[in-house]
Amino acid sequence: MKVLVTGGAGFIGSHIVDRLLQANMQVYILDNLSTGSIRNVNPGADFIKKDIRDKDLKKLFVRERFDYVIHEAAQTTVPKSLDNPYYDCDINVLGLVNVLEASRTAGVKRIVFASSAAIYGDTETFPIAEDCEKNPTSFYGESKLIGEHYLEKYYKNFDLEYIILRYANVYGERQSDSGEGGVISVFSKSILTNNPITVYGDGSQTRDFIYVKDVANANYEALLTASPNRSLNISTASETSVNKIITILSKITDQNPKIFYAAQRENDIKRSVLNNTAAINYLNWQPSYTLAEGLYLTLRDLSIKIAYRKNVVSVK
Ligand SMILES: NC(=O)c1ccc[n+]([C@@H]2O[C@H](COP(=O)([O-])OP(=O)(O)OC[C@H]3O[C@@H](n4cnc5c(N)ncnc54)[C@H](O)[C@@H]3O)[C@@H](O)[C@H]2O)c1
Repeated sequence: MKVLVTGGAGFIGSHIVDRLLQANMQVYILDNLSTGSIRNVNPGADFIKKDIRDKDLKKLFVRERFDYVIHEAAQTTVPKSLDNPYYDCDINVLGLVNVLEASRTAGVKRIVFASSAAIYGDTETFPIAEDCEKNPTSFYGESKLIGEHYLEKYYKNFDLEYIILRYANVYGERQSDSGEGGVISVFSKSILTNNPITVYGDGSQTRDFIYVKDVANANYEALLTASPNRSLNISTASETSVNKIITILSKITDQNPKIFYAAQRENDIKRSVLNNTAAINYLNWQPSYTLAEGLYLTLRDLSIKIAYRKNVVSVK
């Protein structure tokens, strides 16, 4: 089975690549390395340095005849989408359309698309189910929602099968500070280097934090499911406050970090938790890492990476 992972040099994409290679699939990565890194590229995969907006994308798809495409490449941050809506739209909408056109021309069997909880925006009903009202507050949420509509239309008009995975806040090894789930990466680095932690707001805001290997497993299962053409939340369905994250990280590292509380950020929603029943029903999947396990693995990896620094806190 030949699978192309766009954004496969990024945080989540690189874990998906690892999972597919474990299952002995033939894996290709297409990435322009704008936020990803060559260090994340698994040597077992074929790496193609290219932009998803490249006009020659079709030629590549026709030559390689991928069976499946997992589309992770994107402009991934809310603030950037507000600073530069044109750039966000160019990558997340026009880039996706370029991938969809290449896919249908080359006879790709199915595309799996990385969507986001950001498509729901501010809502009153928790946990958020897939059919809840979509009210994105940012251009990022909007561009992901438009992307979903394109996938639905490519299926209706051209029979290109799809699975949309709406990720909650993803965390784990190789995450940079800037992404959606980046708060865990930022706090972990602060604790491991004995620096204070800055919390925006009073820390009672909640998120549904899901470990990256659970997200990679969901992508793998999305290729295999006999029940495609649907949108599924990929989440733990449990709500954790930012303060609780600090408590667990402090416990694992046996540290007592200084915490500064700053003004709440504009556009920051108070609660986020996604219902995951549909994913459990339609994929052979359920989240298998507890928050404490995922945080431990994240801290351990980070502590190794920054171990050369002085005063580093080690996680055994
Ligand atoms: N991290 C989260 O918590 C989270 C939550 C919801 C959804 N998502 C979605 O998951 C996907 C992966 O996000 P991530 O956190 O791994 O981000 P990331 O920035 O680590 O990965 C994105 C990858 O896409 C590549 N890329 C960006 N623009 C490209 C282009 N024009 N052409 C080719 N490659 C390009 C980057 O170089 C990078 O390797 C994204 O679609 C993101 O919107 C992430």
